Amino acid sequence: MQKKIQQVKTLLDALPYIKTFKKKTIVIKYGGSAQINSVLKDKFAQDIILLYLVGLRPIIVHGGGKKINEMLDRLEVKSEFVDGFRVTNEQVMEVAEMVLSGNINKEITTLLNHHGGKAIGITGKDANFIKAKPLKDGKYGLVGKITKVKKKVLKNLLKEGFIPVIAPIASGDDATHAGYNINADLCASKVAAAVKAEKIIFLTDTKGILDKDGQLITSLDKKEVERLKLDETITGGMLPKVDACLEAIEGGVKSAQIIDGRVEHSLLLELFTSDGVGTMITKKIKAK
Ligand SMILES: Nc1ncnc2c1ncn2[C@@H]1O[C@H](COP(=O)(O)OP(=O)(O)OP(=O)(O)O)[C@@H](O)[C@H]1O
Ligand SMILES: [Mg+2]
Repeated sequence: MQKKIQQVKTLLDALPYIKTFKKKTIVIKYGGSAQINSVLKDKFAQDIILLYLVGLRPIIVHGGGKKINEMLDRLEVKSEFVDGFRVTNEQVMEVAEMVLSGNINKEITTLLNHHGGKAIGITGKDANFIKAKPLKDGKYGLVGKITKVKKKVLKNLLKEGFIPVIAPIASGDDATHAGYNINADLCASKVAAAVKAEKIIFLTDTKGILDKDGQLITSLDKKEVERLKLDETITGGMLPKVDACLEAIEGGVKSAQIIDGRVEHSLLLELFTSDGVGTMITKKIKAK
């Protein structure tokens, strides 16, 4: 009996958070680095379905860095990272699309649907809903910078009760164009700004942003982020992620959080408990 009462209490503890977020759109960037094993993937799907069933409107944007690397190796296609971006020629693009859109996107969609959701997997090529141009004048090949997200496509899906699962690929300039490889973090932030999401949450493979001593930084504002980039505390894949957080906030999203996707149910801990986890990025930290 005592155990049952505890279960009810736990449910009630979540009530204020459920009320706050009901009908609110939450964009979740599901990092390739957090998609580690089938147990964690399954827990992630359960969390999303719980959010969905209590009335939140999740949109998932996924990455797939590790799987793309594995496939590139298998196919003996060379690729390199510059400034945290994968330099993308047509061959790399073909592999990235195959893995992101064909493999990972469908894996996530299938899991969510088997847990009782109505997930629909799309890329920016569907209904041309994400348009892009070459980032930094083509410095990284077919890596694109998003120029437009047709929010109507997403709004319609949400209205009909679908969970959009987005692979970060933008449609090309014409029918024969290979399309653009978009960094998934920046894709998530553009999507979040387009739909004016309440929150954007990045699930990755660290506790959050770590300082030079490896300690978690629980909150950072724009100025501090710039300082940590300059002194090279923030490097590699964390660079586009912090930029994406800032872009989302400047685009009208209320909060951006980087959390540990390796921890079971970290999404629910972040959304439905007072503790919060990981690093929160804000425009400016108020003076204490
Ligand atoms: N200051 C920092 N704190 C934490 N991680 C950092 C920091 N600077 C760089 N990183 C790196 O950023 C990585 C996370 O970015 P990464 O792009 O690898 O993952 P992801 O974005 O979750 O996955 P994907 O790109 O496949 O979607 C960490 O594993 C870590 O190596
Ligand atoms: Mg990344």
